[in-house]
Amino acid sequence: CGIVGYIGKRDVAPLLLEGLQRLEYRGYDSAGIAIHSKAGGGGLKTAKAKGRVRELESLLPKRFAGNTGIAHTRWATHGAPNDVNAHPHLDAEGKVAVVHNGIIDNADELRAKLAADGVEFASDTDTEILAHLIGRSQAEKLEEKVRQALRLIEGTYGIAVLHADFPDRIVVARNGSPVVLGIGEREMFVSSDVAALVSHTRQVVTLDDGEMATLKADDYRTYTTEGSRTSAAPTTVEWEAESYDMGGHDTYMHKEISEQADAVDRVLRGRIDDRFSTVHLGGLNLDAREARGVRRVKILGCGSAYHAGQIGAQLIEELARIPADAEPASEFRYRNAVVDPDTLYIAVSQSGETYDTLAAVQELKRKGARVLGVVNVVGSAIARETDGGVYVHAGPEVCVVSTKCFTNTAVAFALLALHLGRIRDLSVADGKRIIAGLRKLPEQIAEVLRGEEDIRKLAAEYADAKSMMFVGRVRGYPVAREASLKLKEVSYVHAEAYPASELKHGPLALIEPAVPTVAIVPDDDLLEKNRATLEEIKARSGRILAVAHQEQDKADHTIVVPKNEVELDPILMGVPLQLLAYHSALALGRDIDKPRNLAKSVTVE
Ligand code: G6P
Repeated sequence: CGIVGYIGKRDVAPLLLEGLQRLEYRGYDSAGIAIHSKAGGGGLKTAKAKGRVRELESLLPKRFAGNTGIAHTRWATHGAPNDVNAHPHLDAEGKVAVVHNGIIDNADELRAKLAADGVEFASDTDTEILAHLIGRSQAEKLEEKVRQALRLIEGTYGIAVLHADFPDRIVVARNGSPVVLGIGEREMFVSSDVAALVSHTRQVVTLDDGEMATLKADDYRTYTTEGSRTSAAPTTVEWEAESYDMGGHDTYMHKEISEQADAVDRVLRGRIDDRFSTVHLGGLNLDAREARGVRRVKILGCGSAYHAGQIGAQLIEELARIPADAEPASEFRYRNAVVDPDTLYIAVSQSGETYDTLAAVQELKRKGARVLGVVNVVGSAIARETDGGVYVHAGPEVCVVSTKCFTNTAVAFALLALHLGRIRDLSVADGKRIIAGLRKLPEQIAEVLRGEEDIRKLAAEYADAKSMMFVGRVRGYPVAREASLKLKEVSYVHAEAYPASELKHGPLALIEPAVPTVAIVPDDDLLEKNRATLEEIKARSGRILAVAHQEQDKADHTIVVPKNEVELDPILMGVPLQLLAYHSALALGRDIDKPRNLAKSVTVE
């Protein structure tokens, strides 16, 4: 979900709508806006609509003037996506408006109590409870009313609150769901995401959990939920406003796929040390002695970040010879995992805000573990909660499905693996070899991208598939998994990823002409095994699209990618399959940047 708010001199509705548009990738089930109205006797005015921000825009009344307001774009958790459940939510008197990201865990209990007191609810959401609690508070100041309400709730929130009796301020609070203040010249912004702020100001203050803030047009202050002041010097956002634009592409997905050569160049920049055939990772915060003491590496992430972590685990095992594996952060935190002092934990996240990953980090930290982050968004919650880490430097990723950040994360892991390897037992020669391979990546990615037209044709050819099977062995398996996820997310074609070796133990039963297979066939020590898999599929009249370093005669089609070092092959082999997913979705007429039911950052459990 996305929150945006403004207080200042400008006409607020167009500003908030623009902000919402920039946040739409955070959720797009419904949208809404509340302002302090200038018309009539003042008071709050709201408008809400199911669906996209443009629906909201089209039904906004002509007279919707004001200089202070909050708005929201929603990814439904409690209650179906409809007008009624769209935020902002109001209290019974219509004096309090609240937008909220997160989930209130004790919502049922609070709702029952309020209902017993005669409160009538307008929606099914947990957020409305907050509006009523704030509205019913007898405290004098708005800050205190919000504080009293927050004391009663259990759960996560990023909120922004307007009150008709306090037209000079917006009160915001954070616990587990991001809130960023944008500091302007006699105007203040607030959002759940810097994406909505950068076109207005690059001076931001990111709230910590347990922090609140009061925004006035020419002033802001931050304090804890207990009321003691906190220092909040603004920092400057690293990313340029333009990097959030579509830059001449029809979709963000296409833009982000296309800019991967530059993105990879950025993650490498300034980090390679030719003298010692290693890399410098300035923010790692792990000295050589500590690095040598690591007995295992456990990588945690969700979605594409988890798959990038799988590639990372393999790189760490291969280059640093440390046993490593990746696990969905969401599973890890629910299974009471054994936390081992000699294990290095690594949390992976594009946004740095994914709640499941953040909660896993917090649980690990509570238990005294050493946790590093491999994160894209600088200063995000996971970046701040971890002991150190590697920034991925992919630039802003707006499309809901991850592409360039996935690739850059895999490269960041290659750097980390090389660094750990060179501290341990990786030879100078191997260090040199990997560095040379890394340096080749940007140009090789550009080469893959030049083959887009051929991939577009292939996507059209396979667009009739009932389901797609993706297979790969060892290094190729995470590539298959990510490619399968990409296709599912953006084209809604059912896809399944399997280790090629496991095909014969079950899924081979699915193979028929309507279920084509995409096979990852790198030119490595497993080439013959992979060829045998192609034979197995062919023998069952399955169609095959291979991604390989040379034409595969058993395949119906081959996408040939340039050869790198075997350890780095997975990074390149994923790229054409992003294009395959993109063009499949295009051929099927899907909403590419905003696939149904998904959101870019899932900041709830
Ligand atoms: C959501 C997105 C996925 C993403 C995952 C993890 O589910 O739809 O594309 O991979 O979250 O996001 P993160 O920001 O932690 O990398």
